[in-house]
Amino acid sequence: MCGIVGYIGTENAVDIIISSLKKLEYRGYDSAGVTIFNGNLETYKTVGKISELEKIIPAGFTGHIGIGHTRWATHGKPETRNAHPHLSSNIAVVHNGIIENYMHLKEKLMQQGYEFSSDTDTEVIAHLLHKTMKNEKTYSLLDAVRHIMTEIEGSYAIAVLCTDEPDHIVLARKDSPLVIGLGNNGYFAASDVTAFLRYTKNAVYVNDKELVLISPTGVEFYNNDGQRIEKKVDIIEWNEEAAEKAGYEHFMLKEIHEQPISIQDTYAGKISELEGRVILEELKMDEDQLRNLQRVTIIACGTSWNAGCVGKYLFENLAGIHTDVETASEFRYGDPILCGQVLTLAITQSGETADTLAAIRSSRSYGCKAVAITNVVGSTITRETDSVLFTHAGPEIGVAATKTFTAQLIMLYLMAIHIGTVRGRLTPETSRDILVGIKQLPGQVQKILNNKDAIKKCAEHYAKVQDYFFIGRHLNYPVSLEGALKLKEISYIHAEGYAAGELKHGPLALISSATPVVAIATKGHTYDKVLSNIKEVKARSAEVIAVANQSDTEITKYVDMVLRIPDCHELLSPVLSSVVLQLLAYYTALARDCSIDKPRNLAKSVTVE
Ligand code: G6P
Repeated sequence: MCGIVGYIGTENAVDIIISSLKKLEYRGYDSAGVTIFNGNLETYKTVGKISELEKIIPAGFTGHIGIGHTRWATHGKPETRNAHPHLSSNIAVVHNGIIENYMHLKEKLMQQGYEFSSDTDTEVIAHLLHKTMKNEKTYSLLDAVRHIMTEIEGSYAIAVLCTDEPDHIVLARKDSPLVIGLGNNGYFAASDVTAFLRYTKNAVYVNDKELVLISPTGVEFYNNDGQRIEKKVDIIEWNEEAAEKAGYEHFMLKEIHEQPISIQDTYAGKISELEGRVILEELKMDEDQLRNLQRVTIIACGTSWNAGCVGKYLFENLAGIHTDVETASEFRYGDPILCGQVLTLAITQSGETADTLAAIRSSRSYGCKAVAITNVVGSTITRETDSVLFTHAGPEIGVAATKTFTAQLIMLYLMAIHIGTVRGRLTPETSRDILVGIKQLPGQVQKILNNKDAIKKCAEHYAKVQDYFFIGRHLNYPVSLEGALKLKEISYIHAEGYAAGELKHGPLALISSATPVVAIATKGHTYDKVLSNIKEVKARSAEVIAVANQSDTEITKYVDMVLRIPDCHELLSPVLSSVVLQLLAYYTALARDCSIDKPRNLAKSVTVE
């Protein structure tokens, strides 16, 4: 995830900005840059590590005002020209977030003669500010930033320098973090407090739609109407390590908590609720191509494969298209029957999984159109496929995938609705229902997070068992697979996910009072069937933990514990149930004192066969 920093003070801004950027490295980044004001705006940026950036800054170069950035590519590859700061004449901008309407703004700016030197969404901010300052001669930089906030849509934390106001940094935020540090030798701005904790522990958190004006003599805060506001100063008690995790004990827990934002960032700009349709230009397939598709073959590994299995139900239900899900390591040595009318879809959070890459290469040799869903811009899969749909989950550091999984699900919903609409399977009314439901997911995930204590208690109660079963039907079958995978990855408890109807074909022999069964029993057309399966395992003395909807009072009669998700559209429950199961795995591993972020024998990115 991108990180922004800024500094004004009596110290050397170059040193402070570089050291602050280093503190944001844990967020993940592929390029970095700084702009220092020392008479002019001097900008240095590069792909790679901050140590590379240090190499290109001339020795002895100093200044007292500057901004800096670590970039995690979302729009445009990791290339120097896409690194921040972005400039428009005498203005420099760093940005964390996503400007959803940037294409529209970019086209307008280009018609007015602005030339773009990057593929980023951020560059429109620099040019819009320049245009505003040029047209509205009475505007201060603060006025101009406030003005463009009415034009840009999406999420942002921005820091702006302008040579017309050489002793100011102006900042603003909406849906992306921003915090100001009040030091003895200057003022700091950053995406999180880690960046400046070594200089000051006095911090002011900026809220949505607020603006900040920093000068050598002080910091002023403004609301969206341009009125000065008073803000509370917090004294940060965390040390730097705790601050990297935003106070969470593990990256995994932090990433689980980031899901309301990562889900929103993934669908941002892609939903037209009014028209009941999805905007998915990145798919680069015209309506005829989509209508003529015979089949979708999903190729993936691990958690991404589980997402693919949810995708199968979505594509078949919403788009009416036959879909297979292949394990990449099997597919690559198989004898697939493929042709030009088959769409192969690689799902891979890292974009680097060796088996997935090999399998997708093989599929293309049959003439298939290949599409990727990935979280990493510039990863290898983006060069091996015809088009790429990026999940915008931000970097995931915990080895066990959490927010990238739910982001993949969101992308699969969007894709299925889009294809279903084009193929005439879905009316705008039906898709609108689901799209409205998707937009409710961030708030619903937040509700689950707010009630996580019940999940923690349940996890602690069963933390000492040796085997767990997870069962579900239809969409909830892959949810049960993912629940079992999460648990075994980080708690080292043997866990199996099963299609609930398959229990009687083997696993029932293993069910006893020592094997808790997690039943994904959310409301839907297989609910009653799952109730029957619950009775089957109860009859063999198993204790049952149900994942069920908030309004389901009946379920309590049949099970030992209930973990709740908010009521939602039947097809959307996998997102919510998965968050519950992530927390169950997390708290089980915590109770067993396991190495949660780096489980034994596992890697985040599996680049070997
Ligand atoms: C590794 C990771 C998993 C991931 C799998 C596939 O095993 O630990 O979390 O699901 O690789 O990775 P991909 O990057 O292709 O999604």
